[in-house]
Amino acid sequence: MTSRRHLLTGAAAAGLGAAAGAGLVAAAGADNAVPAAAVEPLTTGTATVPFHGPRQAGIAEDPPAHAAFVAFTLPAGTDRRALARMMRLLTDDARRLTQGVPALGDTDATLAPLPSRLTVTFGLGPGLYRAAGLKAPVADLPQFRIDRLERRWSGGDLLLQICADDPLTVAHTQRMLIKDARPFAAVRWVQQGFRRSPGVQAPEHTQRNVMGQLDGTANPRGPEIDPAVWNADGSTTLVVRRVRAEIETWDILSVADKENAVGRRLDSGAPLSGAQEHDEPDFTKLDSSGLPAMPDFSHVTRAHVTDPALKILRRPYNYDGVPNAAGQPDSGLIFASYQKDIARQFVPIQLRLAEKDLLNEWITPIGSAVFAVPPGCDEDGWIGEQVLG
Ligand code: HEM
Repeated sequence: MTSRRHLLTGAAAAGLGAAAGAGLVAAAGADNAVPAAAVEPLTTGTATVPFHGPRQAGIAEDPPAHAAFVAFTLPAGTDRRALARMMRLLTDDARRLTQGVPALGDTDATLAPLPSRLTVTFGLGPGLYRAAGLKAPVADLPQFRIDRLERRWSGGDLLLQICADDPLTVAHTQRMLIKDARPFAAVRWVQQGFRRSPGVQAPEHTQRNVMGQLDGTANPRGPEIDPAVWNADGSTTLVVRRVRAEIETWDILSVADKENAVGRRLDSGAPLSGAQEHDEPDFTKLDSSGLPAMPDFSHVTRAHVTDPALKILRRPYNYDGVPNAAGQPDSGLIFASYQKDIARQFVPIQLRLAEKDLLNEWITPIGSAVFAVPPGCDEDGWIGEQVLG
């Protein structure tokens, strides 16, 4: 039987605030034990990710199930002081909402108490630095030959990456932040995406993307993240690429053709040169016909990087829009990657992929944006203070 004490400790571990905890005790007050099943879902809803710290949240943690990437355009004439006011206000919203507290003047305060691992990560585009009269640490990407970019998914002076395990939390946060940004900036684009929901598979398992591939296997993890992602001051950079999946033609491929395009098995995610998902790909191994087991045109062969400082941290979300009248899907990846330096890490990989990657037959970049991600802040600070303060 679940005891009151157990309930209270469970509530504390789940990061419940005092008020919510008291509500739980009252519910269990008559010693009517609340069945564990009724309590457990609360741990997903009330889980929080700390907002304050030297680095912004929403980067190194396991990605929650839902995301909205919201990009803004600054009106002409925006100056540094206006930018600082905007960033102070948006930081205040984010520090409250991520901890399950309504934003100041929150018009839907009832939606705040279940943050579900909510994070809000701020990215500053090249245009924001220009407006502030500063030299930008990031530059627009070169045009790649595979790009079919659409303006409605590209560029942006400010980016908010909003992630949580619950789509209603993401929607509420998006709404509040846009409302408060409105006096300062116009919405340029919003991209909403998803990954597997919590509890669907063991957290250590790699998720599949909308193309059915295990996606994330070779990502840096744990201590490998540091040399790839974080500058000494806690800053990093973000690339967001909207990549359409040509699902109609992908669907008619044989499993072997799909595996050759990626260089990994579809079922286990093992490299074609190995047996287990986390075996290192062996690019020298030949198959029974004397050809490289890892085809030299495969996505993994072309994207592979060995130097830990040149890797990128991929944090992609699937998108799945409204199919057209013929029933053809509008699906793909909101490819997001974090790295110290876009020019040194991301660009060479994307250049190699653009030049030769069989997967290009079934994927098309239709959006692209780059952002500098400033360090985190403490209780009295705000995101961007080192740049605009
Ligand atoms: C729709 C677009 C894309 C799809 C479906 C896709 C899919 C995959 C898959 C299935 C893998 C193998 C498993 C893994 O390690 O995650 C992989 C690996 C990788 N991808 Fe992509 N990818 C896409 C776009 C990109 C882009 C735009 C880049 C960077 C420019 C990129 C960089 C990488 C890297 C660095 C690896 C790891 C290679 C290694 O060291 O083994 N991918 N991708």
